[in-house]
Amino acid sequence: MDRQVEYGRFLHGGDYNPEQWLHRPDILKTDIGYFKKAHINTVSVGMFSWAVLEPEEGNYQFEWLAQIIEDLYANGISVILATPTGARPKWMVDKYPEVLRVNENRERNLFGGRHNHCYTSPVYREKMRQMNKALAGRFGNHPAVILWHISNEYGGECHCPLCQEKFREWLREKYGTIEELNARWCTTFWSHQYSSFEQIESPSPRGENELHALKLDWKRFVTARTIDFLQAETAAIREGGSDKPVTANLMYDYAGLDYKKFKDVLDIVSWDNYPTWHKEEEWKTAVDCGLQHDLMRSIQKKPFLLMESCPSSTNWQAVSKLKRPGMLMAASLHAVAHGSDSVLYFQLRQSQGASEKFHGAVIDHYGGDDTRVFREVTEVGAMLEQIREVAGSAVKAQAAVLYDRENDWAMKDSQGPRNEDLHYMECIQKQYKPLRAQGINVDIISMEHTLEGYKLVAVPMAYMFKEGYAEKLKTYAKNGGTLVLTYWSGIVDDTDRCYLGGTPHGMIEAAGLRSTEIDGLYDWDENHAVPRQGNHLGLSKMYSCRNLCDLVKVQDDTEVLMQYGEDFYQGMPALTYHAYGKGQIYYVCADMEEDFYQEFYEKVGAEAGLEKPLEQIPKGVSVATRERDGAVYLFIQNFSGKTVEVPVQGTYTLLYGEDGAQMKPLESRVWKKN
Ligand code: GLA
Ligand code: ZN
Repeated sequence: MDRQVEYGRFLHGGDYNPEQWLHRPDILKTDIGYFKKAHINTVSVGMFSWAVLEPEEGNYQFEWLAQIIEDLYANGISVILATPTGARPKWMVDKYPEVLRVNENRERNLFGGRHNHCYTSPVYREKMRQMNKALAGRFGNHPAVILWHISNEYGGECHCPLCQEKFREWLREKYGTIEELNARWCTTFWSHQYSSFEQIESPSPRGENELHALKLDWKRFVTARTIDFLQAETAAIREGGSDKPVTANLMYDYAGLDYKKFKDVLDIVSWDNYPTWHKEEEWKTAVDCGLQHDLMRSIQKKPFLLMESCPSSTNWQAVSKLKRPGMLMAASLHAVAHGSDSVLYFQLRQSQGASEKFHGAVIDHYGGDDTRVFREVTEVGAMLEQIREVAGSAVKAQAAVLYDRENDWAMKDSQGPRNEDLHYMECIQKQYKPLRAQGINVDIISMEHTLEGYKLVAVPMAYMFKEGYAEKLKTYAKNGGTLVLTYWSGIVDDTDRCYLGGTPHGMIEAAGLRSTEIDGLYDWDENHAVPRQGNHLGLSKMYSCRNLCDLVKVQDDTEVLMQYGEDFYQGMPALTYHAYGKGQIYYVCADMEEDFYQEFYEKVGAEAGLEKPLEQIPKGVSVATRERDGAVYLFIQNFSGKTVEVPVQGTYTLLYGEDGAQMKPLESRVWKKN
């Protein structure tokens, strides 16, 4: 998409549901005063407003919304306008039951919840089209409106007959003939061949549930259907005459959709982040959030929006722990450090009833501005104004880690070598953490992303090599890149069909080894990786490995840096290195403990020429950079829980925070270097 989203400032504000307060104009009025006081410059409206916008079929009631938008505008507040399709009015399901979703057991749901509709239903699509078009016609060119918020948190799937038909169409388009589908899906196994596309049904616990390729394609189809619906929503907005940019709010590590496919259908990516702070050491939560921010930013490789975050505590997590004083500031700035151009909250005013009545909000049931939360929100708003020049600047990453949703789907669904837990996410984090600990910006990429420009690329547990992926990795290394590949990589193609002729597929010569067998370890089992004397990285410590141990056979010109310490494969390689073209390929054979990666990436990072923004970063301190026109913004945040020394070398000036080398827990600073 080519609609540039340039706001020239950070957006601060969030979800607001004035439709819940139409009977209290006094409250609506006070709220605007509060918003101004808290430096709120952007308000999202319209999520879940359908029943108020169209109380009966075709009867549009937009006046209340017009009034809110005018009032906000008159007070210098921008509007993110949502389409209301995340939930539907009762009259619609009563009159057109087909709009309701059908679950995998083929039961049609009853009215209720949200995202409980069929993305295929022509009726739902038509109702959506009329609504979006009317909203766009009425508000789509209003100067207050800066962005369209399409629906709310797309998710879930529908197994109704209409969706089944679309699935078959999608498969027909993909495979052409049923013979091709049978071959790619390996349906001869258990006599599950299809003789026509009409016979195909979505996976179900009551039926076909073990044909991995069917399940994988179904998941891809669900993403395609969702995107098709999103595009239809956008088309209706354009039809209504609005040309403003669009976003959709994505969710934390959501496995129901393949978000990389949203790259070209959104003008800007936005997402909702609800970490459980204070559950474990702060820095661990920070790393976890950082990875998700980076994942979202990497979809389009440009700044994103934090569309929702909680000013205090949510009400849907197991325990609603309040954010400790200073946490909101640290968490908000952390999002910005990783590339967010906003800090938006769910929600501005707490609802009086129903399921989110105890969800944290900027203005709570008490209704005043003299609360701790309100004060902290105000401080965040002031901080965002102070660092305003950072808005829109880029995050440039020297390193990337592959985390691909299709790979995740395929690997988790496939049976063996460990059905209990493959620890995929942990493996991703083990690559990510030590790089971030050095203050290196990291992109979290999919197989589709280019590898150009990275000094180091980690490809952990890339079980699936989509067509051409081995070539891409080889070209990257050949041209001088440092590639870190791990166990359980290059095993299957994109329909989960095992590669014949040895793995990692297409990489045997380049990586200088072939995987011969893989050992699954019980949770209590452990092996060790023992360094070999004279290994070129100078590794000298022994590390434990768990869960999976790959038994590889190396070529003569492959260096073995570490070997297994126990079991019948004692002495076999645990870490290898192979020079390839102008670059190099490391292969990590086992699920090594975190400390291994710490030492490994410290050394490999230096070898690959990664440039650290700071020489010494104490453990638990988060460092990230954004850049624009030669200026570098350095974000330093102390998530260690202790007071630490973080001196800054060079000609930095302070943009936010207190000067000095010492940093207290949760303290943040933003430095600028020209
Ligand atoms: C999601 C939704 C919001 C709200 C919050 C609560 O992110 O988008 O509407 O329900 O969760 O945390
Ligand atoms: Zn359906």
